[in-house]
Amino acid sequence: MDYLQIIGKQTLNGAVKISGAKNAALPLLGATILSKNSLTISNLPNVVDINTFLKLLKMLGATYTLENEQVNIDSTTINKTKATYEIVKTMRASILVLGPLLARFGHCEVSLPGGCAIGQRPVDLHLKALEEMGAIIEIKNGYIEAKAPYGLKGAKIIFDKVTVTGSENIIMAAALAHGTTTIINAAKEPEVVQLCEILQDSGVEINGIGTNTLTIKGSDQKLLDMKNFTIIPDRIEAGTYLCAGAITNNKLTVTDVIADHLSAILIKFEQMGFTIKQTNSTVTIYPASDIKPVNIITTEYPGFPTDMQAQFMAIATIANGVSIIDEKLFENRFMHASELIRMGANITINGTVATITGINQLYGADVMATDLRASSALVLAALVAKDTTNIHRIYHLDRGYNQLEVKLSNLGANIKRLKG
Ligand code: UD1
Repeated sequence: MDYLQIIGKQTLNGAVKISGAKNAALPLLGATILSKNSLTISNLPNVVDINTFLKLLKMLGATYTLENEQVNIDSTTINKTKATYEIVKTMRASILVLGPLLARFGHCEVSLPGGCAIGQRPVDLHLKALEEMGAIIEIKNGYIEAKAPYGLKGAKIIFDKVTVTGSENIIMAAALAHGTTTIINAAKEPEVVQLCEILQDSGVEINGIGTNTLTIKGSDQKLLDMKNFTIIPDRIEAGTYLCAGAITNNKLTVTDVIADHLSAILIKFEQMGFTIKQTNSTVTIYPASDIKPVNIITTEYPGFPTDMQAQFMAIATIANGVSIIDEKLFENRFMHASELIRMGANITINGTVATITGINQLYGADVMATDLRASSALVLAALVAKDTTNIHRIYHLDRGYNQLEVKLSNLGANIKRLKG
């Protein structure tokens, strides 16, 4: 199995180009199920989760050609409506075919995603909302069996919790439904906004884009006229590279980003003593004279993203003082803490709150990646650790980071992918 070997304490500098956002690309690939024509999607990140989603669409009957982070996809040929356990178990985001398949075909079966490394992660809110739109849903043999023989109906949906993929599923379902759907307490993440904008460009009337109340006028089951488009930049990848600049205390620039999407993250760097300079499409982090501790509470956009929590914990391990991180979204998202402790970090966990007392020096060790973002925290820690760190189970990292070791090497890191 591949692992990463990092020799710490190298100086990083330069600029890194940020790839397309995995979490925007996944629902948008799902949305092609609603299209009456083939289309080209650009800036598609070359990461395992995207390849898995493409494989799922192909299993359903879609065809595509993929070259240079651009996919030409024809989902009009889809003739199967079952997302099997084999594929859903490898990627929870497969649930994103549920809304569009049900809306287009009036029936589908999607394996129920189980729990995952970061918590229980139920999909009850997706199912409840679809039922409110007239779907009949049963759980049988581990599968969600959904039917809406006469099509889905517009409804007033109030989400009890803000859910990103839940909002996306219902937005896609509503786009093809009969009548108007209002979603209250919808997610406002940039990835949700792009989905709405692309559907709008495809002829769907959507009001309230970027707010927590969306009104979507359904097309009466008519397939949409989807145009070619480009995926927005990955704000989490951008944030992670800025963390590489922060933890090594070097100047580093991320390019091809939307700086506005990074606001909550950039404020935290400033609170830690780093200077940030930004244009619309680049952000540069400058070294701090003293890396200060930080207090973070993860929350929905535009608040601080849970997907950046592990990376900031890595920086906090070497900050000058005590940092507190409160993880509000997922109940079990501190697994990177025990691996960071193996590198010498001083972290205590009490429920959803981590207390990190900064130390002078982390030390290289053999550590294990446990989920996607936890893995990047270990890479960050390894960049400043004394000696060599070997990070195992990096298939987690490959799910969401495009060419991580190439990008970090180009910035000056000593990082190699090895087999063993
Ligand atoms: C998405 C992102 C993930 C990010 C997360 C939170 C994708 C593919 N994944 O995951 O990277 O960490 O948003 O920003 O975009 N919940 C329920 N019932 C449901 C749905 C959610 O109780 O039916 C709970 C979850 O357990 C969690 C919270 O709601 O506590 C938010 O989860 P949600 O926004 O749904 O996360 P995902 O969409 O799975």
